Formats: sequence, C-alpha cells, structure tokens
Amino acid sequence: VDLSPFNTLGIRARARYFTEASSLEQLRQALDWANQRALEVLVLGGGSNLVFAGDVDGLVVRITISGRRWTEVDNDHAKLILGAGECWHDAVIYAAKAGYRGIENMALIPGTAGAAPVQNIGAYGAELKDTLSSVTAWDRENDEVVSLSNEDCCFAYRDSLFKQCPGRYIILDVTLCLSRSAPLNLGYGDLKDYFSNRSDDKPLTPLDVAEGVMAVRRRKLPDPAVLPNVGSFFKNPVVPLETWDRLRADFPDIAAYPAEHSVKLAAAWLIDRCGWKGFRNGKVGVHNRQALVLVNHAGGSGNDILLLAGRIKDDVRGRFGVELEMEPQVVLATSAASTDFQ
Ligand code: EPU
Repeated sequence: VDLSPFNTLGIRARARYFTEASSLEQLRQALDWANQRALEVLVLGGGSNLVFAGDVDGLVVRITISGRRWTEVDNDHAKLILGAGECWHDAVIYAAKAGYRGIENMALIPGTAGAAPVQNIGAYGAELKDTLSSVTAWDRENDEVVSLSNEDCCFAYRDSLFKQCPGRYIILDVTLCLSRSAPLNLGYGDLKDYFSNRSDDKPLTPLDVAEGVMAVRRRKLPDPAVLPNVGSFFKNPVVPLETWDRLRADFPDIAAYPAEHSVKLAAAWLIDRCGWKGFRNGKVGVHNRQALVLVNHAGGSGNDILLLAGRIKDDVRGRFGVELEMEPQVVLATSAASTDFQ
C-alpha cells in the first residue's frame, strides 16, 4: 500500500499491510492479526508529524475512531471527549462555535485529536496540556485499556509519555476541559498584531480568535494539502542562560523566549540567519516564509528530507554552537524498535 496519502510530507513509502481501526475492537483484531504473524505494527493518526525513511515491512494501522461528546457540563465548564480519529481542527471550530474556550489558539494544526497529546501540540501561547483532562489508551504492554490523567501524560514542550514510550500506548480518546469564561489568550506576537488592527470593539469570541489564528497561520505556514510538510521540523532549542548571554553578545537581534532559568531560542531565526529560507534542492526545500518548515516540492523521499535536515543542523551548530533537535518522528525502514509510532 502506498502511504503517501497518509503522511502530510507526501512521502511515497510503502506498507506491506495496511488497515484502519474505527473502534477498540477493530484495533485489537488488527494487533492480534499482526502478532500472530510476528509483524511490526505502526499506528498512524493524521500522519502530520512523521517522516518515512523507508518502507514499512509490517502492518500500518490508521486510527479512525470518531465521536465528539460533551460531559460534566456546568455553568461554566464542560468536558469534551474526542475520538482519537477526529480531525483536530474541526474539533477546535466545533468547540469555539459552542462558545467554549481553551483550544482556539490551536486552530488549523494538522492531524487528529488522538495524535495531539503525543507531541503536546501547541501554538500562539497555548499548549494541549493546558486543557487536557485525561486520555484513554490501549496499553500494549499490559493488554488493557488505561485512563491517564494530565499528570500521568508527563507533558513538556513538544513531549509526552507517548513520545517517551514509543509504541506502548495507542490513544483511543482524549478528554478536554473547556470553559466559557477563561480569558482569551491574545498575547503572542503575530496574534497580538492581528487583533490590534481591529476597528470595532465588540468583545471577541473564541471563534473570532480561531479565525485570527487561521489567518495568521495561512500567511506564514504552507498548507500541507498544497505544499507537503510536517510543520516545524525542529523544536525551538532550550539553552542555559550562559549560552544565551554568549549568543546575545554576538547577535543582538536573536529571537528568543526567555524563561526563568533557561531560554527558548527561535530555531526559525537561527536557520533563517544561516540563509536557508527559500532554499530548494531539487525535490525538497525550506519554506520561503517560515525557515523552520521543510517542504516536499516534488516527490522527494524521506531521505532527501533527512539529508537536508542534517545539513541545516550542521550549519546551525557550526555558526551558533546550538544543537537542533528534530520535531517529527522518523520511521526507519523495517526497524523493529522504531516503527511503532502514534
Ligand atoms: N523567524 C525568523 N525567520 C523565519 C520565521 C521566524 O527569523 O523564517 C523568527 C521571527 O522573528 C519570530 C520567531 O522566529 O520572532 C518565531 O517564529 P514564529 O512566531 O513563526 O514561531 P516558531 O517559534 O517558529 C512555534 C511553533 C509552531 C507554532 C508557532 C506559533 C515550535 C517548534 N514551533 O514556531 O508550531 O505554530 O510557534 O505559536 O515550537 C509546529 O509545531 O509544527 C508548529 C508549526
């Protein structure tokens, strides 16, 4: 089976076997089937955060569990339970239209609700961990359904338990805790600029914010359906204050987000400064409006992308002494340990 429709980088990797699971029962059947044949299993959501470095000599299971359900609704709060296969962006708009706040800044992030906790998606000052209440998952180690609290998920910047234990948990549904009155978060640079130009002073709704985020993202980030990509290709590197002081002395305009004991550097700025923005090497390249996004112009392979990423990493290390860490997960060809990803 050609996997190119199932990964947003459009890489033409092949899977020996492919199936979809729209329920826990179907998922368990697929896992048993693979187990009986000693096949590796790769679990896919929207395929918007992985790079196929080769073919998958096993079973690929795409999770299509659907469903949106409100529960524990009181005057202000409500919990929204999303099946793992639900489209994340559609869920954001659904919640915003219902008047609930908490995830509107994460509009237009590609992928499924079930993949969202894996890398603790975030944008414009909001992270999934701020609203996630719990996750239901199939635990492949103990063959049981588990309910994991926000704390159990060990969330950190673009990181979680699911990333730390690849292949162990398959997310079935995600519960978010939303509010009708939580303050809207308009503090992030681009979004602030967008809303500061508003002429009317009607109070903003979460849907207005989601629409603002969509407009801002569309200005900078390529639509994967038009120009295949996986969003930011590297994490923003977190460096100690001493490194920050050294860099600031040499590059006074360096873009960064200072925290208490460390500083998160804007990887886009580092890459841009090395001259990579808009670079194109045949089939693959660097987006011309956001240097952190690698794009697949014309049928490039996973290795084309990884080679380019390696050159960028070397360049940034050479010029700034800073190590970039890849953000998407790499699926190595037929490697037993690393073909298991959400
Ligand atoms: N910048 C450049 N050159 C560029 C792009 C940006 O110098 O080509 C500088 C700008 O000066 C800006 C800074 O870099 O001040 C940060 O850029 P931006 O606001 O676009 O955000 P980012 O740090 O590059 C992060 C997330 C995005 C998220 C945005 C908005 C990561 C790895 N990326 O990007 O998430 O949408 O903030 O919140 O944290 C993703 O994870 O796939 C993703 C797109």
